[in-house]
Amino acid sequence: MKKEMTKLLLEYGILSSEEAEKIESINEETIAKSVKELGFNQTENITQEKIEENLDTEILGKEIYCFRKVLSTNNIAKFLANHGSPEGTVVISEIQTKARGRSGTKWESPEGGIWMSIILRPNLEPAKASLITLAAGVAIAKTMRNRGIDAKIKWPNDVLIEGKKVSGVLTEANITLNKLDYVIVGVGIDTNLNIEDLSEDLKAGATTLHDEMKLEKVDENIIIADLLKEFEEIYKLYADQQIEVILKDWRDNSDTIGKYVEITQALGQKSIGYAVGINKEGSLIIEKTDGTLEKVISGRCRAIE
Ligand code: BTN
Repeated sequence: MKKEMTKLLLEYGILSSEEAEKIESINEETIAKSVKELGFNQTENITQEKIEENLDTEILGKEIYCFRKVLSTNNIAKFLANHGSPEGTVVISEIQTKARGRSGTKWESPEGGIWMSIILRPNLEPAKASLITLAAGVAIAKTMRNRGIDAKIKWPNDVLIEGKKVSGVLTEANITLNKLDYVIVGVGIDTNLNIEDLSEDLKAGATTLHDEMKLEKVDENIIIADLLKEFEEIYKLYADQQIEVILKDWRDNSDTIGKYVEITQALGQKSIGYAVGINKEGSLIIEKTDGTLEKVISGRCRAIE
């Protein structure tokens, strides 16, 4: 993590190369302070000012850091969270060069997307953290539906338009002494990028907001502000333990319930059956052909014919 910070500080001319060589002796607090300075400039499309022009939130977006290029916004957010950044801090980058997707996959993040991480500090037991991921999916789908787009959620939190993926969420939690210290919600949305620039295996299954909205260019700043507002509304419900309301929204916009699905779990184990619902922990309940029900906590979901 320190390496990424050093690289950024060098790139933005905050550290000289001589200082960078001595970075090991510079303490992390000093680096964190410099990262904060960095986060307020140098981007081309997405800026703190433009987001704030449209922002109407109390918690999310309290502090906003926009970067031109980082390895992963989740890394920066974790670093800031470890150095005391408040709940609601948002880290955005116009390009990511080593972004992570769920299940250890790589996430392609060229220019033309929203690559954003949000720091949350919910006062809840760690087992409830996975629901935040569902909540994020609901907020993204709502933000798109408010624009007249028929966005649906594929379990647990991929957002699809006409069956093609437009957004994904990677939540990473930090737990100390069996208490949730912070949660980083990493959101990726394909907004203006050219599908042809994605790798061969992604092209067929992906779409972008500008293609779906038939717009020359979608303004990421406005979408970020709207999404933070939607997510804040849902996050307040979550903090109030009004889980059923979130689950209802999730079910209402689900692309998974009622379909015959195959879930591949972390160790390659597969579960196949009809998706009949999700429970209050966010697990998917499937009905297998022998009539038994199985609860699947995590995995990659694929609808099969
Ligand atoms: C997935 O569908 O596999 C989840 C993708 C999550 C990507 C986002 S982009 C911002 C944040 N930084 C990362 O490295 N990953 C997440």
